[in-house]
Amino acid sequence: MPDSAPASRSQISSEMEALRSRIAELESQLAQSQKLLAIGSLAGGVAHDFNNLLTAILGYVSLLKEEHGLAPQVIEALDVIENAADRASHLTGQLLGFARKGHPKREKIDIHHTLAEVQALLKHTIDKGIKLESEFASKSPHIMGDPSQLFQVFLNLALNARDAMPEGGVLRLSTTDNAGFVKVTVSDSGAGIPDHLRERIFEPFFTTKGPEKGTGMGLTVVQTIVRACGGRIELRQDNEPGTRFDILLPAAVDRTIVLPEAVAAAPARGKGSVLVVDDEEFVRQVAARMLKTLGYHAICLGSATEAVEYYKRRARDIDLVIVDLIMPDLSGKAVFEQLRYENPHVRVIITSGYSQDPGVDALIDSGAKAFLQKPYRLAQLSQTLAGAMKT
Ligand SMILES: Nc1ncnc2c1ncn2[C@@H]1O[C@H](COP(=O)(O)OP(=O)(O)OP(=O)(O)O)[C@@H](O)[C@H]1O
Ligand SMILES: [Mg+2]
Repeated sequence: MPDSAPASRSQISSEMEALRSRIAELESQLAQSQKLLAIGSLAGGVAHDFNNLLTAILGYVSLLKEEHGLAPQVIEALDVIENAADRASHLTGQLLGFARKGHPKREKIDIHHTLAEVQALLKHTIDKGIKLESEFASKSPHIMGDPSQLFQVFLNLALNARDAMPEGGVLRLSTTDNAGFVKVTVSDSGAGIPDHLRERIFEPFFTTKGPEKGTGMGLTVVQTIVRACGGRIELRQDNEPGTRFDILLPAAVDRTIVLPEAVAAAPARGKGSVLVVDDEEFVRQVAARMLKTLGYHAICLGSATEAVEYYKRRARDIDLVIVDLIMPDLSGKAVFEQLRYENPHVRVIITSGYSQDPGVDALIDSGAKAFLQKPYRLAQLSQTLAGAMKT
């Protein structure tokens, strides 16, 4: 039919129909992404409060562990509490990663460690009919990225594999070195991906699982994270049944880095007066105890406005101020600016349960001495203080 010919009634109505269904599809995508946003901000809020509580738990545990002559069963109990709280803190990290507060971390990660964590989680959660196999053959498995994001990458891939094997099968994780890249292969013996869908699986909201089961965002998130690390993900086509993804991540250049564990060495004692500004009473209590144990004199205030007033009166008696980034009356940033107005050389340590808040970098750039991630314990507090006091 020539272009100029008027469209027939049936043509118009079928186009209208297509448009209507496209609109319905877009509406449900919007609802889905709004749901994700809501979960994200909810998770962010919960994680924030959670980190304050964990600061109290881990803080007191680290204080108790400093006591001499503890009975072995007490030490054992403290270790268990500490491990459990560490895991909880890791979980909050995950939630915050999901809430996507600010920019991701970039640190050196042993990918074998991440994969082992994913495996450990799967072992407890997926159906026994699925056999987990692994072969970690990479000789230099270090890459640069955000640990909780990479965890999410492999978890998402593994969950897709699980969904593809309702009757059971094999889920395999393996690594090799590949010309400057670490190659991680995630494969399953499931249903496979039909040829005509291979192009679409990375599209946002593309799912074959139905609205109640899948958001269709899993692989989109995976691809975004992998690309942010400078890597790529490939869906392999081979004759094996099932599905195989290769994830290539640039290997980290070898240089010595300070692992968080290294900080957990002996607490460094010091002296001077430290003003702690935090709206959470638990945090103030444990911080006061820790500071006292370390040899400092502590003044703790729960209101940011009050703390600024206090500093105006007593600036000369205070050697350092530890400020929480998020408080109800004044933000940590506003407190920092007012303190600096009072004394341009004021030593300030910013503390928060959000490590990825972009505001933190800006504050460090404008002169805050350090950032102290919550939950912190005696050793971390003491090292951060010792470093900041030197300047
Ligand atoms: N290992 C796999 N085997 C078979 N099909 C897969 C596999 N991985 C992904 N797919 C297909 O790709 C689609 C998109 O995957 P994606 O992870 O993005 O979303 P989803 O799993 O459907 O939803 P969500 O991850 O949000 O729960 C899936 O619906 C499925 O059809
Ligand atoms: Mg998925």
